[in-house]
This record gives sequence, structure tokens and C-alpha cells, in this order.
Amino acid sequence: MNNKTLFSFLTLILILFNYSISTTGLIWTQTGILISNDGQTNDDFGQSVSMSENYAVIGSPKSQVGNNTEQGKVYLFQNNGSNWVQYLTLTASDGNSSDNFGFSVQISQDENYIIVGAFAAKVGSNYYQGKTYIFQNNGTNWIEKQILTASDGNVGDFFGYSIGISQDDNYIIVGAYAAQVGNYSEQGKAYIFQNNGTNWIEKQILTASDGNSSNRFGWSVGISQSNYAIIGAPFANVVNSSEQGKSYVFENNGTNWIENQILTASDGNSGDNFGYSVGISQDVDYLIVGSPYANVSDKFYQGKAYLFEMNGSNWIEQEILTASDGNAGDFFGLSVQISSNFSIIGAPYATANNNTYQGKAYIFQNNGSAWNDETILFSSDGQIGDYFGKSVNLYYSSFIVGASHANVNNNSFEGKSYVFTTSSSIPQVSIQSCVSLFSQFACYWNQIIGSNFDYQIYYDQQWISIQNPLLNNSIYSQLFNSSQYPNISGNVDYSIQIRACDSFMNVCGDASNPWNLTTRIDSVKNLSLSALLNSQISVSWDYPDVPLFNSTPKLDHYIISYQSNSSNQTQLSFPNSSKSAILTSNLLSNTNYSVSIWGCSNEECLNQNQGEIVSNSIFTLFGKVYNLSCSISNSINIECNWNQPSGSRIPTNYTFSYSSNDSNDSNSIQITTTSYNFTALIPNEEYTINVSACDSNLNCGDISTINIKTKLTKPNILYWNGGIQEFQINFSKIERNYGYLISIDNGNTWNHFDQINESGENVYGIKDNIPGNVLYTILISGCSESTCNISLLGPSSSSVSMIAKLGNIESLSCSSTETSIKCNWNGLLLSEGLKGYCFSCNSTTEFLNSNQTEFTQNNLKEGEVYLISVFASALDNCLASSYSGSPSYLAVLTAGNSVQTTSSSSSKAGVIAAAVIVPIVVIAIVIIAIVLIRKKKQPKYTSVDQPSQNKLLVSHDDKSEKFD
Ligand SMILES: *[C@@H]1O[C@H](CO)[C@@H](O)[C@H](O)[C@H]1NC(C)=O
Ligand SMILES: *[C@@H]1O[C@H](CO)[C@@H](O)[C@H](O)[C@H]1NC(C)=O
Ligand SMILES: *[C@@H]1O[C@H](CO)[C@@H](O)[C@H](O)[C@H]1NC(C)=O
Ligand SMILES: *[C@@H]1O[C@H](CO)[C@@H](O)[C@H](O)[C@H]1NC(C)=O
Repeated sequence: MNNKTLFSFLTLILILFNYSISTTGLIWTQTGILISNDGQTNDDFGQSVSMSENYAVIGSPKSQVGNNTEQGKVYLFQNNGSNWVQYLTLTASDGNSSDNFGFSVQISQDENYIIVGAFAAKVGSNYYQGKTYIFQNNGTNWIEKQILTASDGNVGDFFGYSIGISQDDNYIIVGAYAAQVGNYSEQGKAYIFQNNGTNWIEKQILTASDGNSSNRFGWSVGISQSNYAIIGAPFANVVNSSEQGKSYVFENNGTNWIENQILTASDGNSGDNFGYSVGISQDVDYLIVGSPYANVSDKFYQGKAYLFEMNGSNWIEQEILTASDGNAGDFFGLSVQISSNFSIIGAPYATANNNTYQGKAYIFQNNGSAWNDETILFSSDGQIGDYFGKSVNLYYSSFIVGASHANVNNNSFEGKSYVFTTSSSIPQVSIQSCVSLFSQFACYWNQIIGSNFDYQIYYDQQWISIQNPLLNNSIYSQLFNSSQYPNISGNVDYSIQIRACDSFMNVCGDASNPWNLTTRIDSVKNLSLSALLNSQISVSWDYPDVPLFNSTPKLDHYIISYQSNSSNQTQLSFPNSSKSAILTSNLLSNTNYSVSIWGCSNEECLNQNQGEIVSNSIFTLFGKVYNLSCSISNSINIECNWNQPSGSRIPTNYTFSYSSNDSNDSNSIQITTTSYNFTALIPNEEYTINVSACDSNLNCGDISTINIKTKLTKPNILYWNGGIQEFQINFSKIERNYGYLISIDNGNTWNHFDQINESGENVYGIKDNIPGNVLYTILISGCSESTCNISLLGPSSSSVSMIAKLGNIESLSCSSTETSIKCNWNGLLLSEGLKGYCFSCNSTTEFLNSNQTEFTQNNLKEGEVYLISVFASALDNCLASSYSGSPSYLAVLTAGNSVQTTSSSSSKAGVIAAAVIVPIVVIAIVIIAIVLIRKKKQPKYTSVDQPSQNKLLVSHDDKSEKFD
């Protein structure tokens, strides 16, 4: 059914069921005719009625239960929104015939309890003592909880003829009008029961302070939340007016109920039966007392009702209510009830629609100062003798009227009840507009003039009060969002209605026509950004408020937009199921970007289809540092420098890390400078060096990388020595080399390379006849590759300088005459360092030029032995030089005969002792000279450890052929 049809249908109901005549602004509608599903003739269904928001409770005291005639039942009807549906039937667990269970009923307004009077029930052996039953609502069912009886009950008390329960469920009052008090039969009593949480305890027995026989105190009762009880004694005499009637007000002072006031009618007369019915409002202090036998002018038994109001300390008769269309014998006031807004009064014997005794009910509305807005209710299907109005009750703006003698089909006096509600004449609100504001919406509607109305909104299965809307030029506005109104979120279709309500009366006007809108997609949740390397940005988020994909319109896709101060906007689209993205394009390093995301409900993401935007900003990471360069100093010391990266932020730190193939020589540190030096542990090793710029949170940017190889360490020369046309060095082993490169320089040019492969401590010597008396500089360094090249020599080489000795004279031979000795020998080459020869004959020494290899010593004595020695001199004289060659010796006899000589060193055995002394002296001199020279050279090599012992000379024959 669409809204328009629904509206027409409701209008039809209003026309069909408008069985009321109203002088008020309210519209009264009969919304239900309640009939029991198992009714029988004479049930008196409707003898008593009560109602709450969801239930109507109807007493049917003459109903048969099983074989028990007139045991009585109570029918519970439930309001399902549009209809009253019979829901449960309550009966007494201990019921008997003629109990009249249901003669009186009352439901507590919070729907926790139903109390049912059975005034004719037998208690023990006491006939008609009476009982009252308490049923409790357990949520799904109503359970008989307790059976109340009077502690002092007697035969024929009629306990339960009238009953009442306070709205706060604290007290129950039960009338027993026929109870004897002292010697006064039927003076009547009322019993107060108090709820202690689990049980109802008889708390007090109320009697009239001025009671007398047959007053029938307790014929009618009522009790309020505000601690007042009212008890009617309709047959009490007032001074000389017999059976004029009285009503008694008792007040609970906290511990006791105290008789507070005795009410009588200001215009009462004999036989009025004031107090035949009583009613009390729960919250505001109003009392109503029916006086159905009162005459109105000359109309006998037309009936009256008296309205009393508490003026602070006293109950004041405020109004005497009569029917505007009353007639004799109507018995207006036979039943009454009152709330703070309405009173309802039954006139069950009134003629309606020309039907005698069909009955009427009258509603008087409290307009604040008076109760004179009258509405007359009558039943839609009334017949003669229905007694519509035999019982009445109300709940806010809903009213129930019992017609206990109505015929149902062929069952006479089975009884019916009728429910009326007022849909009110509060005008309908019209919505000017409602607009979606992403996950919330705002509405504008017209003000209803006339009263202080509240407004309610309907968008999600229920009406919700609108708190403090803004009023501007007769237009109200209000923003509705989930912080104050439940279930408002983005991307949802709403059908919104607004109505005005009079909360005091609990009535509302008709709902506005619906305004349909779809809220725009909500903002995504938990947007989070993080910067990645290569200037990328990672975005993650959670879905916006549900519903997402199943609703109409659904979330179609997301848009992410980003830009920096200086760049254009980039927009990208992502599928609706995504919760993360990585932004890669058009991004600069070290730049602040504002990133926004929103959902779209349509392919085209414009206007209403565009969801709420959430933004955040982030700096991209630093880019690479500029000009990273590293150099090697001293084999394994690495020195690196760089410049800060571009962008607006200056790095707080740099992460400097290096690594080699050996994980032990890897490290990563934070520094603040743009240079860093470190000593690597591994020679001849490739190191990878990474540098990145970082912010104060150690978010580090792109990594600049450089590779650099360390050099070999220097082999330390431990010992060296120049020999005869040869030298020797030994040196410490170094790591990670492919052998060693030896370079020997004897002047301006390198003239010897020798690649050697040795393990352990290395000794190197050259034994070939290199020129003596030449300053040689020997460099040794490791080879970092298998082919070793001079160009690799550098800081990682060690050098030492030495001079080799001259060689010895070979083949010295002499011939003699009587007075001369002539010697010759094989000379050395100039290139071998020769400066000349020293020829000694005994103590006479001659320096000879280098081209002389022959010398004749004259003027000798005949027949003497002369010791001849010749050595190659490294000097221009014959002072002993450590670099000069070793002498060759020969002993020669002057005799005229030539003497064949042998080599000097092997022929000494045959030489006289004096001749042997000379070479010893010469050797001693040489040794001293060597020591002196060494001492002179030492400061140049202070870093070299001298071994304690000289090593043996070892020739390196396999390389010697390379000697130039
Ligand atoms: C009612 O009375 C009839 C006839 O006496 C009997 O058969 C039946 O069992 C009774 N039913 C109950 C519920 O007592
Ligand atoms: C209410 O009472 C009925 C009948 O005794 C029982 O079946 C049901 O479980 C009760 N519900 C609760 C909520 O106690
Ligand atoms: C209520 O009264 C009953 C009966 O006297 C008693 O057993 C129960 O303990 C009382 N409960 C409380 C909460 O006082
Ligand atoms: C209530 O009234 C009784 C009886 O008059 C009295 O004894 C009691 O003190 C009163 N309690 C209070 C709280 O006033």
C-alpha cells in the first residue's frame, strides 16, 4: 500500500468510526470493538475495564470456567498497532462457581501487574469473603503471582469488589464494602497492600473515622502514585441527608495511611450516592467522584460527577460535571476515571441513537483552567440495553468503555467493550526540505501555531523526539546525526516524516508526507598515511559507515586526490573493496602533500554522489643525498662525503651504513654530519656504502649507494741486508693478496719487478751479480689481483734503500823478479760500481784507476815473501768502504823465477802468518763499516722492527733471470 492509498484508507476509517460528538479540537475515533472469542450469554464481559499502552483488560465475571458457572474470566487484548487482538485469558488457579473473578480489574500503567477482584470468592469456609488476584508479566506471559485476602476477613465482606494499583507498583488498594467494623455491619473497609519487591504484604486496614452501619465504605476505591487513596462510601449519610454519600481521602505519610479529608458534594442531596464511583489521577492531583443518582434540575437520576483538585493542602471541589445532553435516568457517573488531561464518565442508561439504555460515555478535557470541553462517545453498533458506560477507563489519549449487557450474535448480555483514541486535531506538519549532509541530514519544517507543540521525527521504524530545533521565521530546522539520533549514517535511503505532538496530552498530529533522501557516503574511517621510499605514499583506511555494498546506492569507488603547495592535483580512482593504496606518480621527495579520499556512489562522483572528504598530509621521505663519494686513504681507511638532498626539510640525521662480504665488518650508524670516515677491517675487499637522509623520527629516505674496494695493507719490511752484489729483505706477510710485487730501483728508473708468492713470513733475496756500490730502493707491496701491475703500487707498499757490495777480484796472479812483482787480475766492470783498485804489497797500498788490471811493484828485496792483496774499491781512494769488494790475497817470493799463484782465498794456507793477518784486519774494518752505515740509516726506518738475528741469505733463483 503506498502512502496515498494508506492516507485514503485512514480517512475512510475516520468517517466510518467517528462515533463521537466533540466540542473540543480533538478528533475521536472508535479504534476497536473488543469481544471475547469464547463468550456466552450473560458473561457480563465489560463489567470492568482497564487499559495501558499495549493492553486492554476486560473483566467477564459471569463467565463459566469449566463447569463452574459465574467463576469469571479476564480477557487480555493486545494492541498490535492497528488492531486489538485477544491475547490471553486469565482465570483463578483456585476458582469456583460464582466467584465473580473479574468483577473488578486494573492493569498497572507500566504493564507489570494485572490485579483482578473476585468479591464473591469463598475463603476457607467464609462465603463471599472475597479475594484479589495478582498476575505478573514475565515478558511473554502473565503468571498468577499472589492471591490477596484480608487478614481479618469474614463471611460476606466482598473483599475485591473494588480495586486499584498505584502507577509505581508500590501499593494495591482493595475495597470490602460489606465488611463489618465494630458493631457496624456493612460500614466497609479498604485494605492497603505494599509490594516489598517479591511479595505484597497487607500493610494497613483503612476505615472511615466517622463510619457507620451500611455506609459501604470501599464500594469504590482508587490509589495514586502520589500517595493518595480515595475510598467511596456512597451510602453514607451527610448530616440529615441519608445516602447522600461521602468519599474519604487517605494520605501515606511514609509509614502510615492517614485519613486526610472527607469529601462531600457541595450541592448534595439525599440518595445521590456520591462516591458510587471514584477516580484518581496518577501524577497530578485530581480526583473525580461519581454521583449517579443525583438529580440535575428536574431530571431524576441524570447523575453528576465532581472534580476535586488539590490546592496545596486541601482537596477543593473544582467542578460539577454533567452531560450537556443529559436526561433523567442516564446514571451519568456510574463509572468514572480521570487523568491529568481527561476525565471519562459513563452514563450506561442513557438513550443513544434512540436506543434506550444503549449508554454513552463523556470525556471532559482539561484545558488548563477548566474541564468543560466535552466529547460524547457512543458505540458504532449500539443496541437497546447495551449499558455502554457501565465501566470506563483511560490511558493518556486512549479510552475504554465497557458495555456489559451488549448482545453478541444471539448471546444476550454477553458484553462488549470499545476502545476510542483521539488522533487529535493537531495540524499536519509539512516538511519544507530535508538535505543530506553526508552521513547526517538536516530538515526544515513549518511551525504549528496554537500550542506549545513538540516535534517528532520518523526515519527508522520509530518516532523520536526532536530536541531543541531552531526556529526562524516560523520555520524549524534541525540537524540530525548519529550523535543524538540513532541509526543515522551515510549511504542510506531514508524516508523522513515529522509530526507535532502535545506531550502533555500524549497526542500527536498526523505525520507529514515523507521526504525521501539518501545520505551521502560517510567519510572513510582511520585514514592513515605513511611515506615510502622512492617518494611514494602509502594510504590505508577503513570502510565508511555501513551499509556499503548491499545498499542502494552502493559505494562505487574511491577517489584519492593529492597535491603539494607547488604541484597540481593528481586524482586516482580505486575499487570500492580497497582499503589501501600506494601513490607513486607525480610525487617529489621531501615535499609535504595533502592527501584526500572520498567515496563515490556513482561512476560520476559529483554532488550527491560524492562522499565526505577526509584529508591528511604527509611529507614524502627524503630523496637521495647528492654527490656521495668515497675514497681510500691508507689502504683501509674509507672517507665519504655527500651533500644534503633537495626539498624543504633539512635532515636531522643520516643513516650511514657499510657492508662487506664478511658480516662482521658491517655497520650502520646515525650521524648528523655530511661526511664520515671509518677504518675497514678487511683489505682488498669491496665495501658497499649506503647513505640516506632521515628526519627526527628516523624515517629515512632513498638510499645512495657507492662501492669502493679497500687496498692491501703494507707488508712491513722486517730486515734487510746488502750482500756482495746482492741483497736480502724479509717482510711480514699480509692478508688477502695474490703474492707480492718487488720493485727495485737503482736510480731514476724502475728496473726490476718480481712477483712472488710466499706464505708465512716472507724472505726475499737477490743473489745475482748486481752492481755493487749502487743505491737501490726496493719497494714491496701486495698484489691485489692475480696479475700484478706497477700502477697498483701506492700507499700500500713499503720501501727500503740499500747498497750492495762490489764483487771480489778474480784470478789474481803475479810474477816476480829479484826486486819486483808484477800482478794482473780480471777486472770488474764500471757498471758494477767500480771506482778503482787498491793494490797492496805488504804495507804499501796503491790506488789504481778502474781500467788498470795490472800493476808492477818495484824496489823490493830479493828472496822475500810479499803479501799481495787487491780489492775493488767503491771509493776514489783506498780507505776501506763497506761496499768495496773483498780483497784477494797472494803471497809472492821475489827470486827471479816467476811464481804461479792460485786464487787468493784458497791459497792462504801456504802463505806466511803475517800475510794472513791483513785480510782479518780488512774484514774487521768492513764489519765495523757496515754497522756504522746501518746506524746511520736507521732513523729513516724507525718503524721497522729489526730482527734479533740475521737470517740466512736465500737466493731466489727462479726469478733471477728477470734481472736486467
Ligand atoms: C463437567 O460436568 C460433566 C457432567 O457432570 C462432567 O462429565 C465433566 O467431567 C465435568 N467437567 C469438568 C471439567 O469438571
Ligand atoms: C513466562 O512464563 C511462561 C509460563 O510459565 C514460561 O513458559 C516462560 O518461559 C516465562 N518467561 C520468562 C521470560 O520467564
Ligand atoms: C517480602 O515479604 C515476604 C513475606 O513476608 C518475605 O518472605 C520476603 O523476605 C520479603 N522480601 C523483602 C525483600 O523484604
Ligand atoms: C505518620 O503517621 C503516624 C500516625 O499518625 C505517626 O505515628 C507517624 O509518626 C507519622 N510518620 C511520619 C513520617 O510523619
